[in-house]
Amino acid sequence: MALYAMTGGATGIGAELRQQLTARGDQVISVDIKEGDVIADLSTAEGRAAAVAGVTELAPDGLDGFIACAGLPPIARPLSLIAQVNYFAVVATVEGLKDLVAKRRGSVLIVSSNSAPMMSADDPFVTACLAGDEAAACAAVEERDGHVAYAGSKRAIVAWMRRNVVAYAKAGVRMNAVAPGITQTPLAESVFEDEELGQSMRDFQASVPWGGMAKPAHIANVMRFMLSEEADFVCGSVFFVDGGSDAMMRNDQF
Ligand code: NAI
Repeated sequence: MALYAMTGGATGIGAELRQQLTARGDQVISVDIKEGDVIADLSTAEGRAAAVAGVTELAPDGLDGFIACAGLPPIARPLSLIAQVNYFAVVATVEGLKDLVAKRRGSVLIVSSNSAPMMSADDPFVTACLAGDEAAACAAVEERDGHVAYAGSKRAIVAWMRRNVVAYAKAGVRMNAVAPGITQTPLAESVFEDEELGQSMRDFQASVPWGGMAKPAHIANVMRFMLSEEADFVCGSVFFVDGGSDAMMRNDQF
C-alpha cells in the first residue's frame, strides 16, 4: 500500500486520480481549498506553508509520491492568482515535500497542460516565474491576458521541472509532468461557458485529432502509471495526453 499526497484532489482530474488510488488500497492525503485532509489556499505563502506542514504531520515516515494537481483556468481573476496557484504554489509545495518523497525514493508528478508549448520560454512572464520572483511575475501577468497567464504558468512549471530533474533524481526523487488536453472537468466547463474564451475552446476541441474531449479517467490512468513502480525509469518526462493535439500543432518538436 502506497502513501501519496496531492493538491487539487477535491474535483476533476485530481478527484478521479484520488479515487483510483484509494480504490486499489493506496492512501491519499488530499490538500485543497474546498475539502480534503488539509484545507489550504495555495495562492498564499501561508496556505502553502500550511499545506506542507499538514502533509508532513500526516506522513512523518515519507511519501511514495506527491501530485501537484491544483490549478486555475485562464478565466480566473485577478490574473496574478493563476500565476500564484499554477506556478508558485507548485514550486513551493514540491520543494517543501521533496525530502518526504526522497525518504521512500518516490516520485513527484506535476500537472501541466498541452497549452504550455504555446508560450515561449523567453516570454517576460515565463522568465519572471522561472526567476522565482513572484511579485514581478504577478505584476507582469496583470498586463497580459488569461491565455498568457494560463499557458505561461504551465510552460514555466514544465521548464522548472526539467531544470530541477537532475538535482531531484540525485536526491532520490523521480520528477515528471503530465500535459492534458481539454478534459471534462469543472475547470473546462467554466471556460466553455465564458463569453470571451468559450468559442476558441470549442474550436480547439473540434480540432482534436482523436476526437472529442478527455474524461478525467483518461488523464488519471496515465498519472497512476507514471507514479507506479512500473514507470520506475520515467524521469524528467512530459507526457502529453491530448488526443494528438500537441503532435498536430508542433509535429517536428518533441
Ligand atoms: P478542477 O477545477 O476540477 O480542479 C482543480 C482543483 O484545484 C480543485 O479541487 C480546486 O479546489 C483546487 N484549487 C483551485 N485553487 C486552489 C487554491 N487556491 N488552493 C488549493 N486548491 C485549489 O480542474 P481540473 O480540470 O481537474 O484541473 C486539474 C489540473 O489539470 C489543473 O492544474 C489544470 O490546470 C490541469 N489541466 C486541466 C485541463 C482541463 O481541460 N480540464 C487541461 C489541461 C490541464
